[in-house]
Amino acid sequence: MALKLIDHGSKEYRQMVDLRLQMLRKPLNLSFTEEELEKEKNDILIGCFDDDRMEGCCLLTQTEPGVVRLRQMAVISGLQGKGLGRALMQFAENVARDMGYKKITMHARKTALGFYEKLGYRACGDEFIEVTVPHYEMQKDL
Ligand SMILES: CC(C)(COP(=O)(O)OP(=O)(O)OC[C@H]1O[C@@H](n2cnc3c(N)ncnc32)[C@H](O)[C@@H]1OP(=O)(O)O)[C@@H](O)C(=O)NCCC(=O)NCCS
Repeated sequence: MALKLIDHGSKEYRQMVDLRLQMLRKPLNLSFTEEELEKEKNDILIGCFDDDRMEGCCLLTQTEPGVVRLRQMAVISGLQGKGLGRALMQFAENVARDMGYKKITMHARKTALGFYEKLGYRACGDEFIEVTVPHYEMQKDL
């Protein structure tokens, strides 16, 4: 398994968008708009690979100085529960820390709350709906 930073617009980025479509959007009957993807130009894009095959991904978006939001975290269905998600999160946290960020926030799906809690994230505020499913705001100081 290799964890890597990905360039926007690259072959790996197209693999990432496809993985996110399959795992996060299609099950909700949703897609991505060109504008949404264009906005990711300045994001920190992360992929987990086995040779050339992408097995998981996530990205970080700066929301204010010193703070990034984790988004689009997904591991392909046949490989969930094997530690890839944890490895992706640890890599993302190290990258963010090395770049000087002090905090990670996110809108976490309710179904993934336990995963993030195991990694030290705490939910704050009330449940809300995003992309049609229940979410919580979560955060962790780096
Ligand atoms: C949520 C997700 C990213 C977790 O990745 P993963 O590779 O399956 O997780 P890991 O194997 O690294 O699990 C790490 C720990 O969290 C636990 N865990 C994993 N998913 C969990 C969940 N949904 N709820 C509660 N605990 C969970 C594991 O049991 C493991 O615990 P352990 O260390 O005590 O054994 C992955 O299951 C996924 O892509 N799900 C579908 C898309 C999704 O919901 N993305 C998140 C959007 S906010």
